[in-house]
Amino acid sequence: MTATTTAPVQTTAPSAGTSSASPASPIGPDTQPGKAAKAGKADPGTPVAHRVLTGDRPTGPLHIGHYFGTLQNRVRLQAQGIEMFIVVGDYQVITDRDIADRLAEHTENLVLDNLAAGLDPDRATIFAHSRVPALNQLLLPFLSLVSVAELGRNPTVKDEIAHSSQAAVSGLMFTYPVHQAADILFCKADLVPVGQDQLPHLEVARTIARRFHERYPHADGTAVFPRPEAVLSEAPLLLGTDGGKMSKSRGNAVYLGASEDETARLIRGAKTDTDRHIAYDPANRPEVANLVLLAALCQGRSPEDVAAELGDGGAAALKRTVTESVNEFLRPVRARRTALAADRGYLRQVLRDGAERANAIADATLAEVREVMGSV
Ligand code: TRP
Repeated sequence: MTATTTAPVQTTAPSAGTSSASPASPIGPDTQPGKAAKAGKADPGTPVAHRVLTGDRPTGPLHIGHYFGTLQNRVRLQAQGIEMFIVVGDYQVITDRDIADRLAEHTENLVLDNLAAGLDPDRATIFAHSRVPALNQLLLPFLSLVSVAELGRNPTVKDEIAHSSQAAVSGLMFTYPVHQAADILFCKADLVPVGQDQLPHLEVARTIARRFHERYPHADGTAVFPRPEAVLSEAPLLLGTDGGKMSKSRGNAVYLGASEDETARLIRGAKTDTDRHIAYDPANRPEVANLVLLAALCQGRSPEDVAAELGDGGAAALKRTVTESVNEFLRPVRARRTALAADRGYLRQVLRDGAERANAIADATLAEVREVMGSV
């Protein structure tokens, strides 16, 4: 495994097989789930290449887990010439909390982290979904296509409700996967790079696309929306420096925006064990294995190689290697981030330009939806 492996496209319906993410293969608006995109001439006006949409909630800065889990994938897809949409899910912030804290700052910083990682605002459309009214209006017909019982069965939502600090479950928390379907379908995205926890939401989007077609086909029988597929990253999950889930609230995350000293300090305090022999053994020595993996991802080598090289060097040598690898790997990302961070006006301009492009597409999609629904 290397840091630059190609991610497979895994369908959300595993039994139906997989399809290729080749940018050149045209994909019709009514592709069957799991069927490989067919080559050939598409009808005028239908999408002829893949369109990718993915995004994040603006709740805090992105860390190296996000980098290997999703940002690297985004940049790779962009390099293949695939059209990219990155949504900043600002309305999604208030699903599990009452107030979106420092929303403008977090929104701009998400743009910053994406640009620092290598997303190009001239090629990728980066926008906040609250700035795209027609996207949000899709929520109404979409809500009519799912039952309350189905919404209640979504395992990711159930988990979030269980861990929420809110006293009551809001209607938005309960229905946000339907809103997320609008994020994906407004631009007719057919590929959605996400983590494992998002697969239930992808299934909601696919169900909505299918049911919308059953209820409201175009006069010529074609579908308004494609059935989007998840793209899962191949990089294994990185844990935090304490061996738990890497997260802001635990203080165990290496941020893209952290300084080299902060990174060194965090890794110096990482949990290890007393065995001087360094091995890659995720099952029995998860903390050491995680540090080895972090160095390996940064060096573009296998964790077994990195562990073998360290041999009997002990935790101190391991931490030195990890610190150097991470800081070296992130140096160009951080340099770009620092250069861009000074100009908040530029970050807001990227969001405005993105919203303008997203609005043009959302307006066209909503017009199509009104037409097939018979609105006058
Ligand atoms: N729910 C996603 C997350 O927490 C963020 C998100 C919002 C998203 N809208 C999306 C991801 C649309 C993919 C597609 O990570």
